[in-house]
Amino acid sequence: MPPRPNSCIKGGWHTAMKQAKLVMDRDYAIGGIDRRIYGSFVEHIGRCVYGGIYEPEHPTANAQGFRQDVMQMVRRLQIPVVRYPGGNFVSGFNWEDSIGPRENRPKRLDLAWFTTETNQVGLHEFCDWCKAVGAEPMYSVNLGTRGADAARSIVEYANHPSGSYWSDMRIRNGAKEPMNIKLWCLGNEMDGPWQMQHRTAVEYGRIANEAGKMMKWVDPTIELVACGSSSYFLPTFGDWEMKVLEECYDTVDYVSLHRYYGNEAGDTPGFLARSMDLDDFIRSVVSICDAIRGKKHAKKRLHLSVDEWNVWYHSNNETEKVQRENKWGQALPILEDVYTFEDALLVGSILMTLLRNADRVKIACFAQLVNVIAPIMTRNGGGCWAQTTYWPILHASMYGRGTALRPIVESPVYDCKDYEGVPVIDAAATMGDDGSVTIFAVNRDMEQDVSLLADLRGFGAQNVLEHIVLHHDDVHAVNTEANPENVVPSQGDLGNMDDGKLSICLPKLSWNVIRLG
Ligand code: AHR
Repeated sequence: MPPRPNSCIKGGWHTAMKQAKLVMDRDYAIGGIDRRIYGSFVEHIGRCVYGGIYEPEHPTANAQGFRQDVMQMVRRLQIPVVRYPGGNFVSGFNWEDSIGPRENRPKRLDLAWFTTETNQVGLHEFCDWCKAVGAEPMYSVNLGTRGADAARSIVEYANHPSGSYWSDMRIRNGAKEPMNIKLWCLGNEMDGPWQMQHRTAVEYGRIANEAGKMMKWVDPTIELVACGSSSYFLPTFGDWEMKVLEECYDTVDYVSLHRYYGNEAGDTPGFLARSMDLDDFIRSVVSICDAIRGKKHAKKRLHLSVDEWNVWYHSNNETEKVQRENKWGQALPILEDVYTFEDALLVGSILMTLLRNADRVKIACFAQLVNVIAPIMTRNGGGCWAQTTYWPILHASMYGRGTALRPIVESPVYDCKDYEGVPVIDAAATMGDDGSVTIFAVNRDMEQDVSLLADLRGFGAQNVLEHIVLHHDDVHAVNTEANPENVVPSQGDLGNMDDGKLSICLPKLSWNVIRLG
């Protein structure tokens, strides 16, 4: 990584006008970080599967047709779980279409995205791909057009050792050993009118309970995610969670949250504050889960699965046009957002919000992984490259492991349209199992560097090992195949450490990873 020219350190002195303070201690712990918060999502949509992870004609394709250049970029992110196969797609999907000899698999109209699904990548291929990239599948069952029977059958197919109709079929299809899929989503966004066979809360709560119960009867070791409301702003939010959990609290283990952000107004300070909305959303869902827990006198505490989150708005017009002009086409270039530098900053803040809620958020999936609102882009037959958002995801996944700490931050604030008192410095901290400490921080200030004074009481002697900075002078800067290194991390200054107090410069508009050890 190239060093970044110091902007606020001159002759060893911080010249930044603004200052922030951070105090952290090993005893101020939020909780253990479940590594599954760095999960992702692969849906049968656009060029995520076909042309994304899978392209048999590509020069780097392996024997199964998976692109190895993409695999390499995925492996680097150390993604623990990948949600699959949808998304809206799953609510019309017959899982049985995706097994057996490829030449016999049916082509189906997908009513979620108005394209044609060829089923050339299916359950076996996806599980093999997951193994190759070091991830576990998180499989969604169709509780839209299908129901409990199809759901219990796929658990039998995937996880039952042998000696039954579906498990023996799996063996005949080439997988002698069970696939051991441990994490299952009970449908997708079932309160959304855009969903095939969307349901009322009570209808969904009942079917989730019945399907979940039968799935766990087949394999009691699995974990289940119930659909929360698909948006904080849907009129169903809140009431949906309450009614659904009334029906299925005892059966499920997690409730899902989905959240996407856009900056249509071109208001950068307002956009960068949106992680505060995610924090509100998480707290509201936690409150509802705990209220139902109290009402039911339940011992079990539910956890949260933020299994779709990202920035999503850049490609909306283009997507509509492509869909209009190519109805029922295959692997269309839809939802191909090209991410800007400011998007990477918000992604960094979202990741920190997940860390600060590590006691209740146990799973999260950035949506999606390749080409479709994704950190990794490909060209059919061509290269693959990292979008701006790849970098904060990589850093959080690499260094945000172990225990989430609760730093006390005193920061200058600003007001924007939706929030008052937005901290200029958004920060989170983690302590690795080896005792190493990492501070993550976004400086949201458009104009000024901020000098951060970090009091690392209780950590003993620490040195700054590395200060990674992601900054660009243009908030709209992007990476492309021709210019993939336009927005990439560089090394920041290492600051001054004096008696457990670190003073370090956080450049204006920047994502920072300060690694101490
Ligand atoms: O990730 C794209 C879509 O967003 C998913 O299919 C759906 O679940 C959500 O609305």
